[in-house]
Amino acid sequence: MLGVLPGRGLQRAMEGDVEPQSRGGFRCRLCGVNVPNRPSLEDHVKGKKHRKLVEVRERRRSQEEKSVFVSGFRKDTSEQELLDHFQGFGPVASIVIDKEKGLYAIVELKDTATLQSVLSHDQHSLEGQKLRVKPREKKEFKYVPPKKQGTPRKQELSLEKLSDALCQCVDVDQQAAQLVRMFELSQSEQKVRELLVTLLKEVLSEFFPGCSILPFGSSVNGFDVHGCDLDLFLDLENTKTFQASARKTSNDAEPPLQEDVDGPEKDAESEDSILSDMDLETASVPEVLELVATVLRKCVPGVYGVQAVTTARRPVVKFSHKESGLQGDISINNRLALCNTRFLQLCVEAEERLRPLVYTLRYWAKQKDLAGNPFGGGPLLNNYALTLLVIFFLQTRIPMALPTLKTLKELADDNELLVVDGWDCTFPKDSSKLEPSANTETMCCLLSEFFRFFSDFDFAGTVISLQDGCALPVTDFLSKVADSKLKLGVLNIQDPFELSHNVAGNVNEKTVLRLQRQCQEGSKYCRSLQYQRKSSKGKAWGLTRLFQPSGSAESSPAPSVAGELHPSGLEIHFPFKVSALPEEIRKQLCGIRDVQVVWSEKVSSALRFVLEDLLCCHCTETTTKLLVNPSDAETPQVLLDIPQNVTDLQAKASQQPCDIPSNPVNMTDCQVSGIQEPHLQETPKNITQDETAEPQDSCQIPAGMLDLHTTVSHDPGQPMDGSDPQSTASCVSHQTSFNMSDLQNNTAENQSTNCEDPQLMFSNVTAPQTLVFENRQVQANSTGVTATKCNLTNLKIEASQSLQCRDKGKHSLEEGDSELPVSKRQRLDSQKNQAREMSWHYDLWHRVWLGRRKMRRQLRKSAPNSPVSDANQDIDNLEVEAKVTEAIVQQEGTSVPSQPLLRFSVVVRQVGTKQDSRTSAHFMPLQDEYNLFQEFFHFLEHFLPRMVERHIEKMD
Ligand code: UTP
Repeated sequence: MLGVLPGRGLQRAMEGDVEPQSRGGFRCRLCGVNVPNRPSLEDHVKGKKHRKLVEVRERRRSQEEKSVFVSGFRKDTSEQELLDHFQGFGPVASIVIDKEKGLYAIVELKDTATLQSVLSHDQHSLEGQKLRVKPREKKEFKYVPPKKQGTPRKQELSLEKLSDALCQCVDVDQQAAQLVRMFELSQSEQKVRELLVTLLKEVLSEFFPGCSILPFGSSVNGFDVHGCDLDLFLDLENTKTFQASARKTSNDAEPPLQEDVDGPEKDAESEDSILSDMDLETASVPEVLELVATVLRKCVPGVYGVQAVTTARRPVVKFSHKESGLQGDISINNRLALCNTRFLQLCVEAEERLRPLVYTLRYWAKQKDLAGNPFGGGPLLNNYALTLLVIFFLQTRIPMALPTLKTLKELADDNELLVVDGWDCTFPKDSSKLEPSANTETMCCLLSEFFRFFSDFDFAGTVISLQDGCALPVTDFLSKVADSKLKLGVLNIQDPFELSHNVAGNVNEKTVLRLQRQCQEGSKYCRSLQYQRKSSKGKAWGLTRLFQPSGSAESSPAPSVAGELHPSGLEIHFPFKVSALPEEIRKQLCGIRDVQVVWSEKVSSALRFVLEDLLCCHCTETTTKLLVNPSDAETPQVLLDIPQNVTDLQAKASQQPCDIPSNPVNMTDCQVSGIQEPHLQETPKNITQDETAEPQDSCQIPAGMLDLHTTVSHDPGQPMDGSDPQSTASCVSHQTSFNMSDLQNNTAENQSTNCEDPQLMFSNVTAPQTLVFENRQVQANSTGVTATKCNLTNLKIEASQSLQCRDKGKHSLEEGDSELPVSKRQRLDSQKNQAREMSWHYDLWHRVWLGRRKMRRQLRKSAPNSPVSDANQDIDNLEVEAKVTEAIVQQEGTSVPSQPLLRFSVVVRQVGTKQDSRTSAHFMPLQDEYNLFQEFFHFLEHFLPRMVERHIEKMD
C-alpha cells in the first residue's frame, strides 16, 4: 500500500518508476537506486539525477516517436544521400547510420506530419535500391551509468589458461619464465606501438616543430604486458627554441639563424601554426596539454576518447587508438620518467632473474588486489612502485643481486653525469660496466625470500631507499632539508632519482595491511612442498596456486586475523605514524634512530585510554617488563620480570570509595601487589585527585624504567554499576599500604638506592622491600622504602608526560652525575631508551561494541548542540565515542551480572628487531564463557587503531 502521495512528481514516479520492496523501502527502476523510506524517496524524486533522467527519457521518447528505421541501402551510402532522400517529405532532425556495419540508419524527422508522410509513402528507393522503412521500435529506456574516467586494463589472460600452461612446467623457475613469455609483448605488438608513435610524431611535429615523442614506462622498460599503456613524453625543448627564435626573427624582421633552429620542419613555420597564439616558454602545463589534446582530437586518425587530465601530479593527455586498441598517456613535464625507465632497463639487463620475479609479483599483486589501480589514482600500489620494491629487495640480498644507485653512480663515466630537474640521475648507460652478481639464488628461492622479507617489514617506520639499498628510519626524513620533503605515509618508497617523491604515497593503510598479510601467506605457502614440487596428481602447484585470488578454494589459507584464535592470541599492529605525532614531538624525533620506545609509550597510553575511557573496560592488573635495550639485541629479551603471582607482595589495599559510575569495578576492595606502574593513562574524569599527600624523600621514576606488577581485584559480590553507595562516593584518595615484611631485610646499600635507577634497584632486591608510591613517585627514606600508596588519580598522566618524565629523569641524573659511578651512569644512559613490555588484564561488563552506529544516530538527534549532533564530527571523535559507550552501558539496564562478560589480557610490545618502529598489542581471552572474545576483537581491530591514532594526535 503506497498511501497518499504528496507531490505530482512523486505520484508520477510511483506509477511508473518506483516499486515498493518486499523488505520495506522503495526501488527507483529508472535510476537503479534503493531508498529506505518514503522521505528518502521524496528526496530522491526531487533530486537532480532523477529529474535529469526523466527529462532524457522524455526527449528520447519524443525522438523515437518521430523516427523511422531504414535499411536496405548500400554499405557505403552516406548520411547526406539519405538526408537528400528524406528531406523530400519534410524537415529532418537527424540521421544516424549504424557505425559498425553501416547497414541501417535511424532517421529522426522534425514533426509528426513529416513522419506520417514518410510512413505512408509506398516505395522508397535510393539510387535504384529499395529502402525498407518502418516505424522505430520503442525500447524501454534504460539508464547506463557513465563510465569512470579511464578504462580498466584488459584482462590479458584468463587464470585458467595461465594455470594450464604453468602446470606443464617442471619447476617454479620454468613457470616464471613461461609466465613472462605469455605476458610480454610480441614483436608485432611492439611494431604496432612503434607505428603509433611514428604517426603521433608526424602529426604533432606539424604543430610543435622540432618536438620529440619518446616512450617510457612498461612499453619499453622491460616489464611490458599485452595491452599495457603507451606512456609517452612529448619533449618540447627544441620547439621552444624554435619558437623563441621565430619570434625574435619576426621582431627583428630578419630570417632565423640556422643554429637557433634544431631540426624543425620547414612547413611547420607556416603562419597558421596552431602555436602562433601560444608562447611555450610562458604557457602553463594545462594550456599546452589542452592544445595537445586538440591536435589529437582533430588531426590524428583513429584517435578517440581524448581527455586532458591536468590536475594529476603528472598532468597528461589520455587517448585511445581504435585500430591498435591501445590506450596512451602523453605528458610534457616528465623527463625524469625517461631516466627511471632507462634505470629499469639497466637492471633488467644486469639481472636476468628480475624480469621473471617482477612479472610473477605483478600478477600475484593484481590477483590479490594489491596493485593495479585500474582507474588511475587509487590506494593500491602502482606497477612502478612494485617494481622498485623488487629491485630494492634484490639490493638487500647477500651477496647483492643488484647494485645500489650510489654504487652505480661510482661506475659512471664523466660523460654520463646527468642532472634532470635538479636531481642527480647519473648511472652507467651500459650494463656491461656492472660486475656480474655473485648471488646465485634461484628465482624460486628469491620469490619465497621476497615474501619472507616483506611479511615482517616495518613499512611505516622506514623509507625504502634504492640509493642506499636499505631501509632508512623515517626520522631521518623529518627535517626540512630538500630530499626530506618526502611525503611520509604508511608505505614509503623513495623514488631512485626524485628523492622527494614517495612513489607509494597514494597507498593507504588497508593496502599495506593486506600486502603484509599476503606476504605472510605467500611466505607460508612457499615453504610448502606444493610450491616447490610439481604435483604428480595434476593438482595446482608452484606459482599456479599462489595466483589463486584470495578466498578461492585453491588459495592458501589466510593467516589468522580475527578468525581462529592463535595460541599467542590475536594481534593488532600499530605502525609508527609520523603524521599522528604533534609537530613538537616530530621535531624531537628528527634524526633519532630508536623511535620505538617513544612510539610504544604513546600507543600504550592511547590504548589504555581507548579501552578504559572509551570502552569502559576495567583494568584489574598491570605488568611492565623491562627488556634488554633493543639496540643491543636483535630480539628484545626480558631483563626484569616480576612474576605474575607475587603473593608475597600482596597486601590489602586501604579501602577508599570511588565514584566510577557504570564502571564495574568495586574499588572498595582493592588488592594491589607490587608497585603501581607510572603508566600513561588519563584518569577517568570522575576520579578526583589526592593532592594532599606530600611525598617524602621522593624521587622520580622515569617512565619505562620499572618492572611493575599491579593487581586490582574486585569483589564479585558487590554491585558493579555504580549503584553501590560506596562506589558512587568520591574517591578522594585511594591508598594502598603494603606490608611486605620480607622486603624489610634489605641491605643498607639497597635502601639508599637511587630510585631513578629502578633496574639497579630491582636487580639488587635480594629481599623484598616495602615501597611507597604517590603520584608516580617512589617514597624512599633512610630506612628504606616503607609503604606503597596507590593513588588512582595517578592514572591521569598523559603520554606527553612520559616524555617529560624521562626528560626529568635525565635532568636529575645529570645533576647527580658526579656522584654516580661510571658503570652505573653507563647503565642509566642505556636505560633512557629502555624497551618495555606492558600488559594489562581487563574485565568487560558491557557489550560496548554492539549498536554503536545506531546509538550515535540517536545521540545526534537528542543532543542538537553537542559534538555528537554533528554527523561530520562523528568520525573518530573521542568525545562522541565515550558518550556512545556511556549510552550503551546505560541502555543495558540495571541488572548487575555477577561476573564480567569477558576477561582478557593485552600485551603491548615492540615488534621485531631493533630497527623496527612498530608496536603490537596481543589480545588473549582469560575468561570467555559467552564466546564473545572473537566478536569483541573483530570490533577492536577496526576501532582501536583509529582511536589510538586520534588520541595520539591530541596529546600535547
Ligand atoms: P606505471 O606505474 O604505470 O608502471 O608507471 P608501468 O610499468 O608503466 O606499468 P603499466 O603502465 O601500469 O603497465 C609508468 C611509468 O611512469 C613513471 C615510470 O617511468 C613508470 O615506468 N612513473 C610512475 C614515475 O616516474 N613515477 C611514479 O611515481 C609512477
